Amino acid sequence: MSKKVLIISTSPRKNGNSEILADEFARGAKEAGNIVEKISLCDKTVSFCKGCLACQKTQRCVINDDVNMITEKMLSAEVIVFATPVYFYEMCGQMKTLLDRSNTLYLSDYMFRDVYILAAAADNEESAMNGAVNGLQGWIACFEKVRLAGTIFAGGVEAAGEIKGHSSLKKAYDMGMKIK
Ligand SMILES: Cc1cc2nc3c(=O)[nH]c(=O)nc-3n(C[C@H](O)[C@H](O)[C@H](O)COP(=O)(O)O)c2cc1C
Repeated sequence: MSKKVLIISTSPRKNGNSEILADEFARGAKEAGNIVEKISLCDKTVSFCKGCLACQKTQRCVINDDVNMITEKMLSAEVIVFATPVYFYEMCGQMKTLLDRSNTLYLSDYMFRDVYILAAAADNEESAMNGAVNGLQGWIACFEKVRLAGTIFAGGVEAAGEIKGHSSLKKAYDMGMKIK
């Protein structure tokens, strides 16, 4: 059975390391027969949540930027994959801002069940992504039908594209391939 997979590349750097990781995951997931869509936040406008909570009544955000389009895609995806650079041992601000804005989904009949996180960092230690994983776990905890299904870390990569040939790329491809 094929699944609807939404991959969200959150790095502000186009064709950066985490986006390349996301592309490998997408390639595997497509090859396994899934319906895969990737979006990149680097060419989208993602403004800060205002905290007005109007979305809890309307399931839409009052801010007129690209986020309602993204959260509509999140709503109907069965699998969501976030790719992020590690910024100060956390997820990047763009990813956190999207998670805040996805409060529109909190009371909705969302379809997603499995969530993955892929992260790239200059640091070699896998623990460099712990802050990002913990942050995402906080979001997941608010969606009771959802679980963290997998994590992939690409360490020791700093300049854009430095990830080429990195062992994490095969791991991302294989993880994508396992989605069925
Ligand atoms: C603002 C900023 C903060 C960063 N903080 C960290 C950090 O805390 N730990 C780390 O290992 N790398 C850090 N980095 C390096 C990035 O994680 C690394 O370059 C990564 O490969 C970027 O991924 P991208 O190409 O997908 O944007 C930081 C980079 C920037 C721009």
